[in-house]
Amino acid sequence: MNNDTATESWLARLPKAELHLHIEGTLEPQMMLDLARRNGVRLPYANVEAVHAAYRFDNLQSFLDLYYQGMNVLRTSADFHDLALAYFRRAHADGVAHIDVMFDPQGHLKRGITLQTLFDGLLQAMADAQAEFGMSTSLILSFLRDLPAEDAMAVLEQAKPWYDSIAAVGLDSAERGNPPEKFAAVYARAKSIGLARTAHAGEEGPPAYIGGALDTLDVCRIDHGVRCIEDAALVARLRDAQIPLTVCPLSNVALRVVDKLADHPLPAMLAAGLNVTLNSDDPAYFGGGMLANFSACAQAFGWNRETFRTLSANAVNAAFMPEDRRTKLLAKIANC
Ligand code: ADE
Ligand code: ZN
Repeated sequence: MNNDTATESWLARLPKAELHLHIEGTLEPQMMLDLARRNGVRLPYANVEAVHAAYRFDNLQSFLDLYYQGMNVLRTSADFHDLALAYFRRAHADGVAHIDVMFDPQGHLKRGITLQTLFDGLLQAMADAQAEFGMSTSLILSFLRDLPAEDAMAVLEQAKPWYDSIAAVGLDSAERGNPPEKFAAVYARAKSIGLARTAHAGEEGPPAYIGGALDTLDVCRIDHGVRCIEDAALVARLRDAQIPLTVCPLSNVALRVVDKLADHPLPAMLAAGLNVTLNSDDPAYFGGGMLANFSACAQAFGWNRETFRTLSANAVNAAFMPEDRRTKLLAKIANC
């Protein structure tokens, strides 16, 4: 076994938790085509190769355009179930033990898909993953930040029958020009309901959005957060408060946040003592799931096993999971 193969198989065995995963971003080209056929939805692609050829992104918006187009094929609760369970199986094969799953209700409601359809499919897939291979999962209901805050508030109220099934609310989609402050009232309402809060910030948007999310949305972690590195005072704040950052290395390369992985601020973030985790974001669009992200970092940065154990433990510590599960997973990581 050569060094790379040995590293890859150890990384696969390392128990991992994924905190930043959009379930709509797990739609693999073959499944997109299959669901389009099953549901009579027209797509501008003749085959898998044509879908792949379209996946060349210049920035976040060029990805989001395809992401919203792709989710048009999702219609029934069986579609959401099949999508989610297929990803959970792949993640299980990557050694992922737990996933905090983000989903975008507004991307579906506007197409006439009900919350009932969405929750029926996702909750069944989560129960199946637990029963079939012992994977734990939780849900993060995410708001689209490029839509009005009133729409987000309406979705939050509409989701009332499922509050017990949601761990947190999140904030995603086009970041620039949609600062966290826009959603202060929605997040205050989520807090009063007892929901935890996360938000994308500092992916494409400025470092000020990271501070804004902490100050006005009272989030317990920041999704991405990589642009914090441009602001030394912000880095110090994130380090002192040990705010978990859900970093997505292959996503950042695919969406040109960095030119190449070797340029990524991850090593500097670790050196600064930040609470970093590794995640896949939209694995069907960005070149792979958790193991691909871990392996790419091993190659680019040459991190040792202790570093990967730390990254994995950071994720387990920050995940929305029961305490007894957390304790068991932390022990497994320490012994891996
Ligand atoms: N929605 C899905 N993936 C996203 C990302 N990386 N940033 C913002 N919104 C998203
Ligand atoms: Zn994301």
